[in-house]
Amino acid sequence: MSYLEKVYKIFFYTVFVRSGIAKSLPALIKCQYLNSSHKINNNKVNHYLFGMNFIEGWFTKEAAQIFLWIDYIQKKEGIVGNLFEIGAHHGRSSIMLALMTDPIKESLGLCDLFSKQECNISDSGKGDKKILLNNLSSYFDVINFIEVYEKPSKELTTQECKNRRFFHIDGGHSVDETYSDLVVAADSIVEGGVIAIDDFCNIFYPEVIEGVYKFLNNRKSLAPFALAFNKLFLCNPKKQSWYLERLCLPELKKYVTKGSLVSYEKQFLGYKVQVVGVG
Ligand SMILES: C[S@@+](CC[C@H](N)C(=O)[O-])C[C@H]1O[C@@H](n2cnc3c(N)ncnc32)[C@H](O)[C@@H]1O
Repeated sequence: MSYLEKVYKIFFYTVFVRSGIAKSLPALIKCQYLNSSHKINNNKVNHYLFGMNFIEGWFTKEAAQIFLWIDYIQKKEGIVGNLFEIGAHHGRSSIMLALMTDPIKESLGLCDLFSKQECNISDSGKGDKKILLNNLSSYFDVINFIEVYEKPSKELTTQECKNRRFFHIDGGHSVDETYSDLVVAADSIVEGGVIAIDDFCNIFYPEVIEGVYKFLNNRKSLAPFALAFNKLFLCNPKKQSWYLERLCLPELKKYVTKGSLVSYEKQFLGYKVQVVGVG
């Protein structure tokens, strides 16, 4: 990133996001596209989607919108549980998960190496706890529903992760890290829970592809149901067709605002899956 780009980014982040000007913009431009029955703070979501690119990270608006769609389905169908993310970095995706969390009855767990970067064997990002907490605080008045774990994800315990309805994996990208993160996530999700794993389709991370295949070969506790915007979505095999039925294009278009959105049903690892992207 050039010096000028950095100055531009910091200026806009300070003026629009930290100052709160962006908070009122969605209301002004009436960007209320979410399903009206979605139990989520619409204004806060729009504020986030507007300002997310000012936070360093890789999470895209379209991926955030797919997360929102899953959150909507889970809340509508009464799937309850907490949320978790491995690989928080500066909070670009963590804030989306925090918005999905109902702070009254749910919690969000965030795991990252932060100061223990000597354990970052796959050179994947470089989390910073202070920046993360600052970014979270600029979106939420209280963040006591968020638990932060500063350690390699391999050291997470069952107790720390249990009972999750949504689990985002975006930490270390080696074969072993991918495999062990999937083991933790698979053991932690509730029956209707969903795991989203990043970079499954990214050719620069063949290790993630290998880790996922290794896991799906060895353990039959997860089934894929969607591939969308660089994420693979998995759930309990009993719920696979249930999620697939709900992931239909007209419904999805209410959430993902990209104009040229396309979706195809494909056969993948013995399952029908929805592949969603831009045509
Ligand atoms: C690709 S970044 C995450 C990006 C973030 N989810 C986003 O979309 O903006 C990966 C993060 O995982 C952390 N990380 C790398 N290896 C890890 C490990 N073994 N356990 C926990 N965190 C790890 C890094 O410190 C980094 O912050």
